[in-house]
Amino acid sequence: MTNIREQLSRLVGGALSEASGIADCNPNVIEATRSEFGDYQANGVMAAAGRCGRKPRELAEAVIDGMSDEDGIVASAEVAGPGFINIRLNDQALISRGNDVLRDPRSLIPPDRQAQKIVVDHSSPNLAKEMHVGHLRGTVIGDCLSRVLERLGHEVIRQNHVGDWGTQFGMLIAYMQELGEDSSVLQAELEDLETFYRAAKEKFDSDPAFADRARLSVVRLQGGDPEYLKAWQSFIDESLRHCQEIYGRMDVGLTLADLDAESRYNDDLDGIIRELEEKGLLQESDGARCVFLPEFKGKDGEPLPVIVQKSDGGYLYSTTDLAAVRMRSFDFEADRSLYVVDARQSLHFKQVFAVARAAGMASEDISLEHVAYGTIMGSDGRPYKTRSGDSVKLADLLDEAVARAFDLVSAKNPDLAEDERRLIAENVGIASVKYADLSKNRMSDYVFDWSTMLSFEGNTAPYLLYACTRIKSLLRKQEDDSGGNELTELTQPEERALLLKALQLPEIVEVVARECYPNLLCSYLYELSGAFMRFYEACPVLKAEPNIRNSRLALASLTEQTLEQGLDLLGIKTLERM
Ligand code: ARG
Repeated sequence: MTNIREQLSRLVGGALSEASGIADCNPNVIEATRSEFGDYQANGVMAAAGRCGRKPRELAEAVIDGMSDEDGIVASAEVAGPGFINIRLNDQALISRGNDVLRDPRSLIPPDRQAQKIVVDHSSPNLAKEMHVGHLRGTVIGDCLSRVLERLGHEVIRQNHVGDWGTQFGMLIAYMQELGEDSSVLQAELEDLETFYRAAKEKFDSDPAFADRARLSVVRLQGGDPEYLKAWQSFIDESLRHCQEIYGRMDVGLTLADLDAESRYNDDLDGIIRELEEKGLLQESDGARCVFLPEFKGKDGEPLPVIVQKSDGGYLYSTTDLAAVRMRSFDFEADRSLYVVDARQSLHFKQVFAVARAAGMASEDISLEHVAYGTIMGSDGRPYKTRSGDSVKLADLLDEAVARAFDLVSAKNPDLAEDERRLIAENVGIASVKYADLSKNRMSDYVFDWSTMLSFEGNTAPYLLYACTRIKSLLRKQEDDSGGNELTELTQPEERALLLKALQLPEIVEVVARECYPNLLCSYLYELSGAFMRFYEACPVLKAEPNIRNSRLALASLTEQTLEQGLDLLGIKTLERM
């Protein structure tokens, strides 16, 4: 089963090619901008008319005449305006699609016709510090995209490109040695990596002898000294344990098997430099080794270097990323490689992608995509921080979300047992944080605001989760002798609107997979809940006469399935009650 829009695209596209004599014209079928004119519209006729030199309205008529609608999906098609085609779908076709889904809920989102291998680089914190609010977006957006792509049948290779090899680790190792390696003091200190980092940094800045030891540690570490490697490894393990705890709590799919640490590429970096040299791309500038590409110029028009090796021989973030592109291209043989990373790194990725292309370190057909996202801001319009100006630890943020959700749930439903309210709050709290993030256009900055994300009104997780519980409770009231889970009629416009909306999930998911904007899925789910509320207000369900009642219950059940599957793609689980 293909999604409705795709089916219409083929239907109109076929007729359009036929009528215009142009093989590759795009019928440009979209959901109708105004529902009173139809369910969908085809906007591609005008462009095709221009290319074949025919009058647009005339061509549109010919397209309508030429459509061979074997499945009987179209009830009516009409030319409008300068040459649009408005399409209204057949009720029976909608009903029968709905019933297909009710019989086999997984068929709601059919797999993509072409399965691809897709790398999703996401979360990727720097392990020197504990995960903080700056890692939230990359973690949840990346997880959502991975889920969406997997659901469409793609082979997803999650990669957590953690920073584990910079100069900071020298400082941390030196500080660990200061505290004595196996002591319980050290263990206790490591419980809070943020404080640990800060203490080390303070010492580094104030104690020159320590700073020297720290610098020496990096050299020893990167030179492969076993003692330093051991200390480093124990720090990394501890830091990763913190990350995995967060992932587990957030229900994010990253595991240790998805690690793609920078250190993984140590042995490849010499080779990267050599290859750039052989390709004639390397130049020296102030002792550093750089690649100059014509497309990168500074403000003054001066060529901008991509530095790949510092004058002291050290490698950089870009060098590692070149090695990573090569692995994703030629070892993984990926079709797409998505980098879900802060927008402030966009120049970095442009440069890495360009150098990789120029040097043949990216395969010809891999698509390299920086899935950029904006910053989470505080109400003061600056990046979100604690009152004292520190970065907000993700662990603390989640705790606060759950505590606030507990108050919310307790106010809404004080009669539930406390245990149950706690469980619900864990779900609602984390869902609210995730949803608040996913529902924003990822390119924009947004202001972090507890009261909006935890509100039962508007495009929020509590609203959607609550809508689900209402449908579930309606379905629980269904008597056992009801006539089966089948749609039979659409008597009211609200029923039809809801059914059509529910069946549109797969076409939204397809766009999210292509363009990597989870907020489209959120808006869709919000609209779907709205359509349900309108239906529920206009159409009695349990009190309706038996045929209609059964059909409406089936529609409610289809809505519930759709919400549940959509929320699951966002990494949110529905609840029985809240
Ligand atoms: N660790 C980096 C940071 O904290 C992000 C890594 C993103 N992925 C990549 N392949 N560069 O900024």
